[in-house]
Amino acid sequence: MTGKVQYSGSAALKIALIGNGAIAKIVTQFCAAPGSRLQVVAALGMGGDKASVGAHPLVNSLAELLAFKPDRVVECAGHSAVAAYAAPVLEAGVDFILASTGSLADESLWNTIKAAAAKSAGKLKLVAGALPGVDALSSGKLAGLTKVTLRSSKPPKAWKGTPAESAHDLDAITVPTVIFSGNAREAALTFPKNANVAATAALAGMGFEATRVELVADPNVTQNVHHLEAEGAFGSLSLRINANPSPDNPKTSHMAALSILRFLENEAATIVI
Ligand SMILES: NC(=O)c1ccc[n+]([C@@H]2O[C@H](COP(=O)([O-])OP(=O)(O)OC[C@H]3O[C@@H](n4cnc5c(N)ncnc54)[C@H](O)[C@@H]3O)[C@@H](O)[C@H]2O)c1
Repeated sequence: MTGKVQYSGSAALKIALIGNGAIAKIVTQFCAAPGSRLQVVAALGMGGDKASVGAHPLVNSLAELLAFKPDRVVECAGHSAVAAYAAPVLEAGVDFILASTGSLADESLWNTIKAAAAKSAGKLKLVAGALPGVDALSSGKLAGLTKVTLRSSKPPKAWKGTPAESAHDLDAITVPTVIFSGNAREAALTFPKNANVAATAALAGMGFEATRVELVADPNVTQNVHHLEAEGAFGSLSLRINANPSPDNPKTSHMAALSILRFLENEAATIVI
């Protein structure tokens, strides 16, 4: 045994992707493995996406994507794709598996999607993405959580192009420096490109207002480091992930794609973990 997934035959679950980038490529390659129970039938991209990352067709509209009659639609595209497609996919009665959780810090969008899910035969499904311990957080929530904090550290240059750049000389940072401290909603809205992990912690645990977030420019780290701490009736937890980047997008942790794959494996499996 190598620890990798072994398959035995059964009908494949039809997956339609929204996104044709780094995550889509990893998902596609995994699903194309011999004996996979997952089949990517099509992907929806943007104008800049010239060629599909796999053998499946790349389409330009949601109507074309849904014409493939997917069992699941998987968003691995970004916040604008959640805003454009989550509610319509749910309204079509299809499950929407969502990676860009930071988009849900927008209360109006969240309310629209929740309303669509409530009326749909399909479900909205949020993946853990790069955040460890989502199972423990959402389990602990059932008996009551009293504190959830997330400290996300990245090399200083990784914060270029964010509001941190106007407040700090990122090239001159020599010690770990907190560039943001506040709640998860403020973090997600102020740093939208770094919002997903904070938003996932909020959605799994105590909500956007009660979840404390620190963002750190740390010259001593080379990876994206997320340190989640929680307390409640269950006890306490402290989890840290030193996340490697995905091969095709240094801004995306490899774990984000793996988390989607684990989720899809469970959707297709007879034994779920
Ligand atoms: N939950 C997490 O922990 C986590 C971690 C990493 C990334 N993500 C999310 O996953 C997304 C994708 O990551 P990636 O590394 O594959 O990005 P990427 O930039 O490599 O690829 C994004 C793809 O989506 C397409 N796209 C963007 N907006 C679109 C839209 N409105 N409609 C259709 N297609 C659209 C792009 O053209 C591109 O093909 C990120 O934007 C991020 O929001 C979540």
